[in-house]
Amino acid sequence: MKNKDREQLEKYRKAIEKRLKPSRYEHSVGVAYTAGALAMRWETDMVKAMTAGFLHDWAKSLDEKEQEKLCRKYLPELPEEIYRSPSVLHAPLGAYLVQKDLEITDEEILSTIRFHTTGTPGMTVPEMILFTADYIEPCREGLEGLERLRRLAFVDLEAAVREILGLTLAYLERSGRPIDTETRRAYEYYSARA
Ligand SMILES: [Fe+2]
Ligand SMILES: [Fe+2]
Repeated sequence: MKNKDREQLEKYRKAIEKRLKPSRYEHSVGVAYTAGALAMRWETDMVKAMTAGFLHDWAKSLDEKEQEKLCRKYLPELPEEIYRSPSVLHAPLGAYLVQKDLEITDEEILSTIRFHTTGTPGMTVPEMILFTADYIEPCREGLEGLERLRRLAFVDLEAAVREILGLTLAYLERSGRPIDTETRRAYEYYSARA
């Protein structure tokens, strides 16, 4: 890795350390290194993968009310139904805020952040990498299928994405939470390709 990239990553690591509570910061570091390893395996840009990993939960420092307020103000294109699933708002809002706060303009990084919670049909490899890294990073525990998914992500990335989407939907159904349209659309897309 070039010196300039290392310095840039260090800047983002410090920025997220300042912004999030310790457990969320640890999670972000775990996602960054997991995404970096997956980028090595799947031959995509490691620095961009790690940048997105560090910053993907940038908007999580705000409570859900504040997130909703900012989404309504700055992202009017979001569908109204998204507000029934407040836990997904931090993803599109994060993509918006890292542009504004950190001047990140690289669309590859922004779109991976935008879809890291719900996924979307037809994800790019970098998008699948961040989505998967968020679920399997080392600090996670107690999630269904973790050990197997950690292996699978390095063998068949799309299969890992499909399984995580299925587990997420099953969890939402079991816990009686509203299921956002984007997660369902993504799951249907990846199921049809299996
Ligand atoms: Fe997140
Ligand atoms: Fe996360």
